[in-house]
Parts: sequence; C-alpha cells; structure tokens
Amino acid sequence: MTLRCDETTAWAALAGHYEAHGRDFNLRDAFARDPGRFDAWSVQAPHVFADLSKNRIDTATLHFLLDLAQECGVEARRDAMLRGEPINVTEGRAVLHTALRAPRGQGLFSDEVHGVLDAMLAYAETVRDTPDSGIRHIVNIGIGGSDLGPQMVVPALDAFVHPGLAFHFVSNVDGHDITPVLRQLKPAETLFIIASKTFTTQETMANARVAKSWFDANGGTDTAKHFVATTTNVKAAAEFGITTTFGFWDWVGGRYSLWSAIGLPIALAIGADNFRAFLAGAHSMDRHFASAPLAKNLPVLLGLVDVWNRNFHGFTSRSVAPYHQGLKRLPAYLQQLEMESNGKSVDLAGEPLTFATSPVVWGEPGTNGQHAYFQMLHQGTDVIPVEFILVKRPTHALADLHTKLLANGLAQSQALMLGKTTAQALTEKAPTASKELDAQTIAKHRTFPGNRPSTTLLLDQLTPRSLGALIALYEHRVFTSGALWGINSFDQWGVELGKALCNDLLPRLASGDTAGLDASTAGLLTRLRA
Ligand code: F6P
Repeated sequence: MTLRCDETTAWAALAGHYEAHGRDFNLRDAFARDPGRFDAWSVQAPHVFADLSKNRIDTATLHFLLDLAQECGVEARRDAMLRGEPINVTEGRAVLHTALRAPRGQGLFSDEVHGVLDAMLAYAETVRDTPDSGIRHIVNIGIGGSDLGPQMVVPALDAFVHPGLAFHFVSNVDGHDITPVLRQLKPAETLFIIASKTFTTQETMANARVAKSWFDANGGTDTAKHFVATTTNVKAAAEFGITTTFGFWDWVGGRYSLWSAIGLPIALAIGADNFRAFLAGAHSMDRHFASAPLAKNLPVLLGLVDVWNRNFHGFTSRSVAPYHQGLKRLPAYLQQLEMESNGKSVDLAGEPLTFATSPVVWGEPGTNGQHAYFQMLHQGTDVIPVEFILVKRPTHALADLHTKLLANGLAQSQALMLGKTTAQALTEKAPTASKELDAQTIAKHRTFPGNRPSTTLLLDQLTPRSLGALIALYEHRVFTSGALWGINSFDQWGVELGKALCNDLLPRLASGDTAGLDASTAGLLTRLRA
C-alpha cells in the first residue's frame, strides 16, 4: 500500500524545507557558493543532456524528493506500467506505448506490434516511391493525439523528409482549416489519412466526409488508393469505405500514439529506416527510465522538480522554449501530453486532492518568444520556470545564424537567473530612456529580479533518434509527476462534458430552440442565428 503524496513524511519534510530554505533560495548565491553546481545538477540521458542547476533546488531538496518518490511507490508504478498491468484504472486498460518501440521479440505484444509496423512501413515505402505511386500530397485528418504528434514531428525532422511529398494536417472542425488545404490538391496526387483511435470523433469524421466529397466531386477515382485509416476501430473505417487500414490497440493512449499506426505520416515523411531509428531513440529512453537509479534518472528528476516547483514554490505554469524552429509545434504537443494527462483533481480512488496538479504548459520557439512574452518572464510578477531546448549542430549550413541562436538561448537562461540590480542598472547608459525622468527612477524600471528558474535540455543534433528519445523523456516525466500525485494520467474524462453539450446544441442551432438553456447560452445562440 503506497501513500498519497500529501500523506507522506517526505511531503511534510519538503514543506518544512521549503519554509526554511526554499522560499528564499537564491540561484545567484547558490552558484557563487558552489562552483561545482553545474556538474552536480547535470545529467546525461540517452541523446539528451540536461542542466537542472538553474532550478531552486539543493541537495536536501533532492534528498526529500527522492524520499517522496519512494514513499509514493513511483518505481513500483513504473514497473506495473511496463509489465502491462491495467494502471489506467478508470478505463481498465494497460498503458503500453513503450511496447510500440521495443525491438522485435523484446516487448509485450511484439508479434502484433511488429506485424503492423512492418506492414505500415512497407506501405509507406510504396507511397514514397512517388514516380510509381503518383502521390505528392499527404493530408492527415485527425485531432488531439491523432494529429499533434505527427504534426510536431514532421517539421522537426524536415531535413529527413522526402523532398517530393508535401504534408498537410487538418484537425479543426472549422472549414477554414480544410478549405485552404483542398485548394492546393488534385485527387490523383493526394493521399488522405483518416487518423482516429475511436473513428467516432466528430471533428475528424466531419472533415473526412468533406475530403471524400471533394475527392468525388473533383473526379477522384480509386478511393482505396487515396484514403487510408489509422485506427483501433477497423470496423468503423470499413463502414466509411476505407479498405486500407493500419490498426493499433486500446492500450495505446491517444496522446501516446505517434509510435503506432498514428505515426504513418511520420513514416511517409522520413521513411522506414528513419522511423525505426525514431522508435529506437524512444526505446533507449525507456531503458534509461526503467533502470537508471532515481537520482540519475532524467525523466524522474524532471518530474520531481516539476512537483517541487508546482506544489511548494506554487509556480502555476511552465514555458517551453525550443531553440529550433523545427520544434515549433512542440509546445502544443506537450500541452496535450501534460495537461490532458495530469490536469486532474481527484486521486485514483476518486477522492479530491488537496494540492495542485498539472501546470499550464505553453511556449513558442526561441528567439520569437523573446520578442513577445519574455518581458513578462523577466520582469513580470509571476515566476514561470522556463525549459530551454538547445540543439548543438543544425542541419543547415548557416553557421552564423546558428551561433546567434545558441547565444540567445544561453543568454536568456543566464538573464533569468542573474537578473540585474538597481545599482547595476544605475551604472549603465540607457540611450532610449526619457530625459524627463531621474536616473534612479529609470534604473528601477531597468531592474531585473533574477532568481528565475530554468532547465536546459541539450541535444547534439535533432535526428529521428534524438527526437524519439526527447519525446519519450517527456512522456516518462509526465508519468512521474502523475505517479507522485497519485492520479490517473491516462484517462481524459474532462473532455466528455463539452462533447455531450455540443451534441445537444447542434440541433438547437438549426431549430433555434433555447428551452432549458442558461440565459447566456440562449442569448448567444439566438444572436448566432439572427
Ligand atoms: O478529446 C480528447 C481525445 O479523446 C484525445 O484524448 C484524443 O487524442 C483525441 O480526442 C482524438 O481522439 P480519436 O483519435 O479517437 O479521434
């Protein structure tokens, strides 16, 4: 019997430690005191090096956090997941995305997994033979976990993408999404992938019907060649009229599904060998997560620091700043991964929690964010930990741009940590400052509090292998904080209510019937129909 985090002695110890040393912890002083701080707080995991030294943590914090992991049974929970136990208790399902990237013969359900993988990769190669297939455009129609993974990975691996194929992602049940895509297409050159775990999702089904009508109306022939489905619901796909289907299983959560048939757009983009390397990179992180001692286990350490930041420092959000334009959709991907997984307020037994769970996760690629909201990160009233992702070697030849990019990333984490005192500001010239104000006042405006935490993840290069490892790192980190909080990170009941109410409102929008609706919804509905 493991304890809920707020019942453990480690939780009480962390609360006491926060009052005594955490609240006033100063990063600048910590670096001045300890020249070995970087070495002590950096970890090398497969393909990802992490610097945690700019977080407000000390050895005692780590000690208590590791005790917390022990008391909350994080390792036992991890092992239960990897063994295929039904840890998604509210849906009675196993959670086995790790099996999707295990080498042949080594993971659970290996025959099924590798059977679909082989078939999907063989299919991808036939489509990638563009002179023969005639396919030039791939349109993935899916939403949430059936969209965000491939939509994030394809541009991230741009250097590896088939030059003769263009990729499009349609997700929103908004004609403004699919219309400009269809405008670029010809039926004979287009492959539509209808991606849906359930094959019932309103948005995806509606867009799939639009695509099919467009295909037929524009002289498309051979639906079997131009429409494929990736789904656990092969029967529904067949009823839709799709005969080429790549399946997966209910033990693959939507937001963990890019390793399955949902990864078909990725396989089409980067090819079979690269897709296998992508899986192998994730598998190397799985092995690290499964076997590294907790004090050197990067996903565990990140999850522990996340809990320290969220529950003791009370930081409500985390900003992700990938200094790689290819990772522009990573923040959106991580929003689903983390917020749909850990945005919960009851424990496994359904009892209300007395502590906070998922932070808001948000961000933009560097350096764009610097010229938008970094002002708030540096001088705003909230402290928001930032996660910098730096990639040492680019896949382009513009060395000067890359050096500038890296210098910017480093400078931001440095500035957040060091800040600038009013005394320092007073010694500097500020050419754009008003001449009407005295120097003291201007210096106050130009003061930075500093002591703002960040973590930096460093990759040698963004390749299928390293990206696979990076994504798996995030998955296991989210697992760790969810396990510490004692919640079910693998269900998503919170999306149900809106879906049900939407189904009720759909006919009302047509009929105008507002009976029984609250005044606001009724008023808005009436105006929308006027
Ligand atoms: O609405 C939430 C959700 O169920 C996600 O968890 C999932 O990734 C998405 O919808 C799409 O679902 P499906 O793949 O079944 O269309």
